[in-house]
Amino acid sequence: MAEERHDEAVEALLHEDRSFAPSDTFVAQANVGPDVYAAAAADPEAWWAEQARALEWDTPFTSVLEWEAPFARWFADGTLNASVNCLDRHVAAGRGDKVALHWVGEPEGDRLDITYAELLERTCRAANALEALGVEAGDRVAIYMPMIPEAVVAMLACARIGAPHSVIFGGFSAEALADRITDADARVVITADGGFRRGAASGLKVEVDAALELCPAVTTSLVVRRTGQEVEWVEGRDVWWHDVVDAQAPIHEAKAFPAEHPLYIMYTSGTTAKPKGIFHTTGGYLTHTSTTHRMVFDIKPESDVCWTSADIGWVTGHSYIVYGPLANGVTQVMYEGTPDAGGKDRWWRIIDEYKVTILYTAPTAIRTFMKWGAELPAGHDLSSLRLLGSVGEPINPEAWMWYRKHIGGDRCPIVDTWWQTETGGIMITPLPGVTATKPGAAMVPFPGISAEVVDNDGAPVPDGHGGLLVITRPWPGMLRGIWGDPERYAETYWSKFDGLYFAGDGAKKDDDGDLWLLGRVDDVMNVSGHRLSTAEVEHAIVGHPAVAEAAVVGASDDTTGQAIVAFVTLTSSSELHGEDDTEIIASIRAHVADAISPIAKPRQVILTPDLPKTRSGKIMRRLLRDVAENRDLGDVTTLTDPTVVKMIDGLMAAHAEDD
Ligand code: WT7
Repeated sequence: MAEERHDEAVEALLHEDRSFAPSDTFVAQANVGPDVYAAAAADPEAWWAEQARALEWDTPFTSVLEWEAPFARWFADGTLNASVNCLDRHVAAGRGDKVALHWVGEPEGDRLDITYAELLERTCRAANALEALGVEAGDRVAIYMPMIPEAVVAMLACARIGAPHSVIFGGFSAEALADRITDADARVVITADGGFRRGAASGLKVEVDAALELCPAVTTSLVVRRTGQEVEWVEGRDVWWHDVVDAQAPIHEAKAFPAEHPLYIMYTSGTTAKPKGIFHTTGGYLTHTSTTHRMVFDIKPESDVCWTSADIGWVTGHSYIVYGPLANGVTQVMYEGTPDAGGKDRWWRIIDEYKVTILYTAPTAIRTFMKWGAELPAGHDLSSLRLLGSVGEPINPEAWMWYRKHIGGDRCPIVDTWWQTETGGIMITPLPGVTATKPGAAMVPFPGISAEVVDNDGAPVPDGHGGLLVITRPWPGMLRGIWGDPERYAETYWSKFDGLYFAGDGAKKDDDGDLWLLGRVDDVMNVSGHRLSTAEVEHAIVGHPAVAEAAVVGASDDTTGQAIVAFVTLTSSSELHGEDDTEIIASIRAHVADAISPIAKPRQVILTPDLPKTRSGKIMRRLLRDVAENRDLGDVTTLTDPTVVKMIDGLMAAHAEDD
């Protein structure tokens, strides 16, 4: 279990007295004070309702929560429009000239500032275009785009007309894209010719073209010209954004939708090979994301410049680039490219230039910057920063301290925020100005959120002990289900413990009762903050013609958090064929990139004549993880053939020497 793996390191920290009290600056000016916890705890529903009233409702809600476990409805009789909440109301309040996005393209000098009024106009044109293309409320629209302003516009245009979007990360392969388009039964795909990443133009439309061969129901693909590369064109199906969107009227009368109208679907990996379409609805989600954004990042909309470094293809981009920050009317930086494009100090240049005040990023990025050296940030003026956030995976205390010192100048509080695609928004986090912080701890549930660490029977563990993280009450941003599969929803999240949401993460309470998140306890891996399941990677590998069987584990990795290690047995014919191992391994890795994404390529592929199995035929993944992480193998007597694992261990060691 993931939990056991972290034990030693965490144990040492849990009893170490290192904590940072809220800074005087924050105590003096933070949006909320210590009383917020008691206020929310006294009546969580009333507290959330009060937060929800900060949004603009067409029909105010009277009902707060309807809970027929495990199905929740929040603010169900209210109606609102998410896009109006993110755009129109700021413009109507006279803030139209305020910059919504400082967009920075990867090629140097490629940049654009877009005001709220302009973002509204663009969104209205896109909404009109989607309607002209026949998209109606309730229809799903797939979005497969680079990090360009049109991606935000496309999402808000869908929200405006009540068409749930399904954004698919641009790094996914055609096959993965096709699976997701089919599952949601999307008929329209919004994409671009490509985007700029790692100093080159990548192709996106080419992937869409391949995907659409498998998706005959798709009628339209709407294509933004971003890179100018040549693309194939299917008449009658493909239309250019600049032809159909730019020609539309800049005004669009938005209708209000019920609070429980689906806002979007986001596919994420579960424990099986088939990704889950997590879906979120409108009113509760917008309440949760805007409230957490305002309080966790202590947002001052007049002066803050926020930068969430995630891709909009992941939930972090949805909640903390699009819906939360835009609902709060802040100015943001949105950057298209990789951190080393144009120099390994690209981020620090951007922060200096736009005077970014709040940076929200992932531990894997921080560890990469650590490797590149503290001189790079030191060469730039980062004094505009006032708050730092971390998300996506457990942050190791070393990375936390480095972040604090070299990026935050020992002055900025760090909020380590735990949440998931399923939770919609931040769930466990310190509040700057209120909560002390400890390097590596997400600390406490957000106000109005109830979390516990329980043992295998669902009983809360005492302080100083570890167990499984659960959420004990419904919350506004919670997933409303898995698209098309309510049973899987109930089974995955609500069946382990009666009435408790099972997150899939291990956690500990330290002696003060503060929470430390320890990683997944199921077969979900976290590679550079990307979520992948062992089953889906195995499924991809066994799709390779030379492969008989595969077992995949996530082994800890200094930079990426976890790395994928695959143990593979070949079919006897391919073994006989006597192909070169290196070639087969390369072709297996390429095969995984094609089936899922380059992010799913195993770091290591170990070819082995056999896999360790229990007498009932189950592959012993735990043992393989021990092998992959060089741990003592312990008791192997339950295996059919204990020598197998020793042999694999030997292969692994030989492999390590080759590296
Ligand atoms: C999983 C969810 C949250 C948006 C991005 C990832 C891990 C996330 C933390 C954190 C420790 C974390 C968990 C969780 N995780 N944040 N601050 N500390 N672990 O969303 O792809 O749905 O992944 O990411 O294991 O279950 P996701």
